[in-house]
Amino acid sequence: MRIGVLTGGGDCPGLNAVIRAVVRKGIGTYGHEFVGFRDGWRGPLEGNVMDLNIKAVRGILPRGGTILGSSRTNPFKIDRGVERIKENLAERGVDALVAIGGEDTLGVATKLTELGVNVVGVPKTIDNDLNATDYTFGFDTAVNIAMEAIDRLHTTAESHHRTLVVEVMGRHAGWIALHAGLAGGANVILLPEQKFDLDQVANYVEKRYQTNYSPIIVTAEGAMPLDGQMVLANGELDAFGHVRLGGIGQWLAEQLEAKTGKEARAVVLGHIQRGGAPTAFDRVLATRLGLAAIDAVHAGDYGKMVAIQGTEIVRVPFIAATGELKTVPPERYGEAEVFFG
Ligand code: F6P
Repeated sequence: MRIGVLTGGGDCPGLNAVIRAVVRKGIGTYGHEFVGFRDGWRGPLEGNVMDLNIKAVRGILPRGGTILGSSRTNPFKIDRGVERIKENLAERGVDALVAIGGEDTLGVATKLTELGVNVVGVPKTIDNDLNATDYTFGFDTAVNIAMEAIDRLHTTAESHHRTLVVEVMGRHAGWIALHAGLAGGANVILLPEQKFDLDQVANYVEKRYQTNYSPIIVTAEGAMPLDGQMVLANGELDAFGHVRLGGIGQWLAEQLEAKTGKEARAVVLGHIQRGGAPTAFDRVLATRLGLAAIDAVHAGDYGKMVAIQGTEIVRVPFIAATGELKTVPPERYGEAEVFFG
């Protein structure tokens, strides 16, 4: 068989580990051939390919990013997008695709499957918000980066008796904020799932100063005050209709400084959370998902995403993963609230 591989959406550590596992097992165990499609769905759309063989995947296990490149291209928003993908796959003799991506990339994979394209999906997002899988690779790395940042911010906040607000990624799901905040001992954690009361956050900050510690507030970029909305970086929408968020941290710092009279500063971690080498957990998860993905292709079990449930790698229909986002349940937030203030 000839199999195409692509990585779509926001990159994250572990993508290369998946590509390596798919190719190593695909060639070594099954004797298949591969075509690397560049930059997400733009690759099959424009016929932009690269060699993907054992040599191409040597040494990439610990490397962040993706050797294939990524984009947020949506072929369903492009004239003759689906036809062009089908033509390019046929021209290169590609029988099936492994699409590594999050809700948008796998949403496209779902629709293409319905239109007769053979696709197997691998879940990817640092946000950990895909359903039907307990974890997505990249998340553990992002949480560790954010935790280390919080550890460092504690010491400088205390030296200067300041409030520090840390803004982390997470548009609609606050998993990174929740886990990084818990691991880093944040005084308050704010998530998109639950609107916050600014006065209550200010009270937590005051309480923290009374105990002679400086407060660290971890906020997801999509967190919202009770009477407000998400803070947008600009008004632009991407090809999947997402706005670019950013600014809640700065807004909060200004509000808290005004309310408490104590200096407050904001730190935006941004794409630092997505860069660099994956953790051991993410390398192992990505490798296991890659191995399972090529098994699914070899078995002709298309329209499925491989997933981790408990410690087992399973196959689930695309719709189970992309139908609805996996957000933080109130009881998980309740665990964190015990440590607020
Ligand atoms: O979807 C993953 C993610 O990292 C989100 O947490 C974040 O909101 C978004 O991507 C940022 O996208 P971009 O890299 O395109 O600015």
